[in-house]
Amino acid sequence: MKKRSLILLLTILVALLGITACMYETKAVQQDVPPFGSEVDVSYSQELWKILVDAKLVGPGMIRSLPYEGMEPHGVILEQLSTVIKVKGHTGMVFVKANYMGKGMTRSKVVNEPAVYLKAVTVMFKREKGYDSDNQDWFWVKYKPDGSLHANPKGMLLAGRVAKGKPAGCIACHTGADGGDYLFNNTASHLD
Ligand code: HEC
Repeated sequence: MKKRSLILLLTILVALLGITACMYETKAVQQDVPPFGSEVDVSYSQELWKILVDAKLVGPGMIRSLPYEGMEPHGVILEQLSTVIKVKGHTGMVFVKANYMGKGMTRSKVVNEPAVYLKAVTVMFKREKGYDSDNQDWFWVKYKPDGSLHANPKGMLLAGRVAKGKPAGCIACHTGADGGDYLFNNTASHLD
């Protein structure tokens, strides 16, 4: 009888140890996934790019607007489009900014030869509720003109919650935008 309860006790102990180890592992895995630049973020950014091309918001066939003079860190000359799109079954607002840079640029040079000066396409897409509750569920991405991704100096690809928890980057800077909606030039309400 005594032996039996000892075995029972040992079994319970081993089980408890196992559960603790599992919990620890799950936590470690969660901590390992960075807030941006992961495989999931990259694949989402690719899906988003295709939809932006179809909607003529990026790519060679994009709708052109008159560029305006911008400021760092975005291009010296910028072009911006906004609308509502559907990605993976979720409909949300999207803001697309073409960033032009180069020597001796003027607005008319950009209008006439956009491909020469286009260096980056920065996008904010309002994702489903809960995607990033701390930061109003924005998906941030910095594309190269061909739809591949720019990286930060550490080599992390710029797609996802960029750069959540860091003192600099998309989220940190856009937190300072008037109206508390992370938008500088726009208000979210014009697309609601
Ligand atoms: C140091 C500050 C700063 C950082 C970092 C920054 N932005 Fe911006 N962003 C601005 C400012 C200022 C504007 C509005 C002025 C302009 O058009 O340049 C803006 C405008 C935008 C807009 C147009 C929507 C709007 O009205 O706000 C998009 C889209 C955007 N940024 C995306 C991004 C993405 C994506 C990143 C990160 C890869 C990023 N930004 C990083 C300052 C910043």
